[in-house]
Amino acid sequence: MKRAFITGITGQDGSYLAELLLGKGYEIHGLIRRSSTFNTGRIDHLYQDLHNPEARMYLHYGDLSVSGQLMDLLHDIRPDEVYHLGAQSHVRVSFDMPEYTGDVTGLGTLRLLEAIRKTGIKTKFYQASSSEMFGAAPPPQSEETPFEPQSPYAAAKVYAYYIVRNYRKAYNIYACNGILFNHEAPRRGETFVTRKITRAATRIKLGLQEKLYLGNLEAKRDWGFAGDFVEAMWLMLQQDEPDDFVIATGETHSVREFAEKVFQKLDLDYKEYVAIDQRYFRPAEVDVLLGDAAKARKKLKWEPKVSFDQLINMMVEADMEMARKEKTLIDAGFENGSNRG
Ligand code: NAP
Ligand code: GDD
Repeated sequence: MKRAFITGITGQDGSYLAELLLGKGYEIHGLIRRSSTFNTGRIDHLYQDLHNPEARMYLHYGDLSVSGQLMDLLHDIRPDEVYHLGAQSHVRVSFDMPEYTGDVTGLGTLRLLEAIRKTGIKTKFYQASSSEMFGAAPPPQSEETPFEPQSPYAAAKVYAYYIVRNYRKAYNIYACNGILFNHEAPRRGETFVTRKITRAATRIKLGLQEKLYLGNLEAKRDWGFAGDFVEAMWLMLQQDEPDDFVIATGETHSVREFAEKVFQKLDLDYKEYVAIDQRYFRPAEVDVLLGDAAKARKKLKWEPKVSFDQLINMMVEADMEMARKEKTLIDAGFENGSNRG
């Protein structure tokens, strides 16, 4: 049985990757942060009582800012594969918390690579690199495109990207960068723009919300489905040699177009509900991301399966279901969907 260690298992990608690896028969070990509120909502459906001899998912408390513990965990678990997905992953927030983002998103990668080097375990390492690293570089962006990072988050990811390549060369560690373009899903965090839109539009449809405040509607992104993208992560660690790959759909759409389509699907006109709030603009913007994933198509035989329209349908349906539940509770007298008061 193969054993995998996943940082960021409680995040969007971590939850889809955990499902994928459990389905392939892996034993998985995830790093989770202690939190005063539950942060395992995305993986609760995968949890098995550890008294059950069939249980193959284990969670360990830890933090990417604490190196000694990462070393202990890798030493004890001795995973065949490490998927490093944990990060302060919000670009806008990285302008508010640049030092923290540099520490967790940049140095977090170094801490794991050092843990692998110092423990001497034989493992394969996946780094969640990002199309945000291309920043202001004109599209289409491929593995050959020079980076022009436009945010503290992107700068931290560029550091992590190069330290992965450095450890691969200097210490012969099997380490890969997956340069993933934006990928979304019903489990996307609610402050990323796609989910913010699907959540708000469905609530507006049911009369639970009046307006949706957004920032730059003209930014364009290459949006794919997270479930397709985690397959590419796994494929990267199944090759004979480590390498870096762009993973993208090869289509780009504006935030405006995304919002228009979502509202249209609900028979609403986005112009009546979307308002602009300067707070959501960034000190520096990434205008257009459009990935060229030819290398991954050829070498990994990877293809995205879910189209842009299918992704929108999937997210709208899931959020409509959530909004319906919320409305049912409110109609039954539970204020804001909870009995807080
Ligand atoms: P996400 O939903 O924001 O999840 C981030 C994960 O990192 C969560 O599990 C979070 O834990 C964990 N984390 C944050 N700070 C941590 C710390 N100090 N110590 C330990 N864990 C910590 O992100 P995602 O969308 O799944 O993305 C996964 C990775 O891919 C990230 O590295 C992201 O930067 C990168 N990426 C994402 C995309 C995309 O479009 N989704 C594209 C390219 C690259 P909590 O649940 O406790 O907060
Ligand atoms: N979040 C957010 N909220 N973004 C908005 C809003 C808003 O109200 N209004 C407009 N936008 C624009 C942003 O300015 C940006 O140009 C675009 O929508 C996408 O923003 P996000 O969904 O926050 O994603 P991102 O592209 O900045 O970052 C995501 O993708 C990266 C890969 O390219 C994150 O998942 C990163 O972790 C990831 O690396």
